[in-house]
Amino acid sequence: MTRTPSYLTAIRDSYDTVAADYVQLVEDPAQLDPLSRAMLAAFAESVRAVDLGPVADLGCGPGKVTAHLAGLGVPVFGIDLSPKMIELARFAYPDLKFTVGSMTALPLRDDELGGILAYYSTHHTPPEQLPTLYAEFHRTLAPGGLLMLAGHAATDEPLHLRPAQAYGGHPVSYESHLLPVERIAELLIRARFLITARLTQEPDEGAKRTFATILARKAEHPLAP
Ligand SMILES: C[S@@+](CC[C@H](N)C(=O)[O-])C[C@H]1O[C@@H](n2cnc3c(N)ncnc32)[C@H](O)[C@@H]1O
Repeated sequence: MTRTPSYLTAIRDSYDTVAADYVQLVEDPAQLDPLSRAMLAAFAESVRAVDLGPVADLGCGPGKVTAHLAGLGVPVFGIDLSPKMIELARFAYPDLKFTVGSMTALPLRDDELGGILAYYSTHHTPPEQLPTLYAEFHRTLAPGGLLMLAGHAATDEPLHLRPAQAYGGHPVSYESHLLPVERIAELLIRARFLITARLTQEPDEGAKRTFATILARKAEHPLAP
């Protein structure tokens, strides 16, 4: 039997602890800034256009973004490591499908998905595990399938953060690993993705972190090694 890596246990337990406060504190996607909403709308329009299969919202949390995509006409379901988050998502959106699982080992077949959204959900994954994560995204996407990665990124050097508490002041044991957007794009290219767009939302003066969105796609035909 394989043991669950400790960083996944820390993510699961921490988000179970903060879930009830997280759902209150996190903005509704309709209240997000115009650029973030525009990127979600562009992703929704693109996955509808390629029409290659359902979209998985990986690290869906309480399902607000999943429901936002569903409202934009996307056939979407959510997966999250935290059973408490999934319980809240199922309660709030009983018509949508939500499953407990890890994006590091997805309970999905090869080429099954038309799209993957990972919205503020990959920054707890240690950088050395990102190639495995992106390989799993690549495996489960259909050729031509689309990926949208959005989340915290570093402006310059990688940042490693160990917050003692989060959302509502609860103790958390997860760590955050923020990489510059160029490094994330490089790792995606190594995982055989084609990058179609990248956006960084400029931080306040002197800030060491930013928000980055990358749109990518799995090639229709296998890429030459
Ligand atoms: C900051 S929350 C974002 C939730 C949601 N995407 C949103 O934007 O509101 C990060 C979520 O990612 C989930 N997560 C982190 N690593 C994961 C993994 N390996 N597999 C599945 N879920 C994961 C956490 O459990 C948590 O619910």
